[in-house]
Amino acid sequence: MGVGVLKKYGEFLPLTEDTPIFSLGEGDTPLVKSNRLGKELGCKELYFKLEGCNPTGSFKDRGMVVAIAKAVEEGAVGIMCASTGNTSASAAAYSAYLDLQAFVLIPKGEVALGKLAQAMAYGARIIMVDGNFDAALTLVREFTRNHPITLVNSVNPHRIEGQKTAAFEVADVLGDAPDYLFIPVGNAGNITAYWKGFVEYHQLERTRTLPRMMGFQAAGAAPIVHGHPIANPQTIASAIRIGNPASWQQALKARDDSGGTIDKVSDDEILEAYRLLASREGLFGEPASAASVAGLIKQVRQGLNLSDQRVVCIITGSGLKDPDLAVSSVTAQTIEVEPTMEAVEAAALATA
Ligand code: F0G
Repeated sequence: MGVGVLKKYGEFLPLTEDTPIFSLGEGDTPLVKSNRLGKELGCKELYFKLEGCNPTGSFKDRGMVVAIAKAVEEGAVGIMCASTGNTSASAAAYSAYLDLQAFVLIPKGEVALGKLAQAMAYGARIIMVDGNFDAALTLVREFTRNHPITLVNSVNPHRIEGQKTAAFEVADVLGDAPDYLFIPVGNAGNITAYWKGFVEYHQLERTRTLPRMMGFQAAGAAPIVHGHPIANPQTIASAIRIGNPASWQQALKARDDSGGTIDKVSDDEILEAYRLLASREGLFGEPASAASVAGLIKQVRQGLNLSDQRVVCIITGSGLKDPDLAVSSVTAQTIEVEPTMEAVEAAALATA
């Protein structure tokens, strides 16, 4: 069991003597070597960073533990965020631990059930906004300007600081940076954080190289790819249904400084990757997470040669958060039988 992000990487974080040090067990997530997809895609090495193994089931916990620690240090009594679901789950959990009031604004009807259940269980005040994530974030920015409540979306720099530790872990485990890093892009905080982490490690000579940052938006919610905000973003990957990312400029910088790309993947490509990840690798990520793998598949199909490259895909959140989608989108393989051996044998041994 890890000691948590604040303890493990404290020397790289903006901590002071007054910062409370605590952990719900975030960080130290597995970097799993691909057994099948990497070969099929012709990668020299392919790894998946399982951020769904964080305590609330997504990468948000890394940044949230820092943002909440700093909020407490600064005397906050409450925090607020807008969220497509994972940020709100994480904010609610860390607030519960520290007895802070959490206010979460979520787009009504657009958050996966598992994430909503988390925020409810952790005891956040849930405010459903009849609008999308971008509208909710605008409201949160204004509210927190006028009230003594700390904003904990990734426009809070402490979130980025915490999330950069995932890049440190990848480099610590591989012994260097990977050649390529594939990552989903929504509000663009995470791609910003990984790039910051890799650059810092490189400056400290903990790595010899820097990765190419390969970010992927959903095709119906791809403002960075199209070069303008999307008023009504649409995608099955609700976590990245965002039309005006807060860290847009930082994402462009990560792309350009790293020699990478920010591209889009269709919902069909996301669902294909979502199924392949589970059925070929035993890894169940949520649909938004699969955008990284969908992006890898797309780039390889378009001719990217990775035969000499070490590749990491970030699986940002757990598939368990969105069970409805799994059940409705994966071809059902269930057979109902009478409770007899004949029926079970017939069902088990029947040729598909
Ligand atoms: N993957 C998952 C599972 C997410 O929840 C998010 C963002 C992203 C990828 C994209 O990361 O925004 O840093 O580019 N979720 C936010 C939320 C928006 O409210 O939970 P990003």
